[in-house]
Amino acid sequence: MRVSGILRIAALLFTLVATWLFASASFNHISVKSINIRSWLGAERPKPTKVVVLRHKCNNKRECPTNTFAFKLISGAANVVGPSMCFENTMVMSAVKNNIGRGLNLALVNGTTGKLIKAGAFDMYSGDVKDLIEFLKPIDTGTLVLIASYDDAATKMNDEARKMLTELGSSYAFKLGFRDNWIFLGGKGLKNKSPFEQYLKNDKDTNKYDGWPEVLEMEGCVPKKLE
Ligand SMILES: *[C@@H]1O[C@H](CO)[C@@H](O)[C@H](O)[C@H]1NC(C)=O
Repeated sequence: MRVSGILRIAALLFTLVATWLFASASFNHISVKSINIRSWLGAERPKPTKVVVLRHKCNNKRECPTNTFAFKLISGAANVVGPSMCFENTMVMSAVKNNIGRGLNLALVNGTTGKLIKAGAFDMYSGDVKDLIEFLKPIDTGTLVLIASYDDAATKMNDEARKMLTELGSSYAFKLGFRDNWIFLGGKGLKNKSPFEQYLKNDKDTNKYDGWPEVLEMEGCVPKKLE
């Protein structure tokens, strides 16, 4: 009786000590961070969702193959919304960039690296066509030239400027008239006409807006100049 009483007390003490040791050892290994209301209540943690957005350069519909640059050109809309030019996923000219203007908007891009060389907006209604000619003159072979019209791109145009634009691969530079829409991607040293050109005549019978034709938009992939 005495012996079994001592054994019972010993067993009880052993259980208490063992429980205390086990509990303190366990809690030492649980970091404070991992104990939160959700895990205490057994609620499932929300699983992180991975959203995969398929988006091509310049938001184009198709992906451009390697050895080409992606581009998207949008002409101005009447005299209200300015044009924009995206090249290899960079907006090179836009209203947000604040580097566009009514008339002709031109961006020069290195055809090997795809980097913007410079951009210029030329007022072709009340500006001086000499500014455009001076901009076009020093262009090196291998430079890509991106053009988008806004409002009127032709009033001050002359044959010298039209010839220079034609030499960059344009088929419509000599046709360009008052408030026609025109978008173009050509380059210095092209042997053929550029396939990247759209032109829409200002014609009151077909115009989308009162005094202007529909907006033009063109996207594509232009081959890199390999050196
Ligand atoms: C394009 O960039 C390369 C490397 O900087 C340079 O060597 C080449 O002359 C540039 N070409 C044009 C047309 O600017």
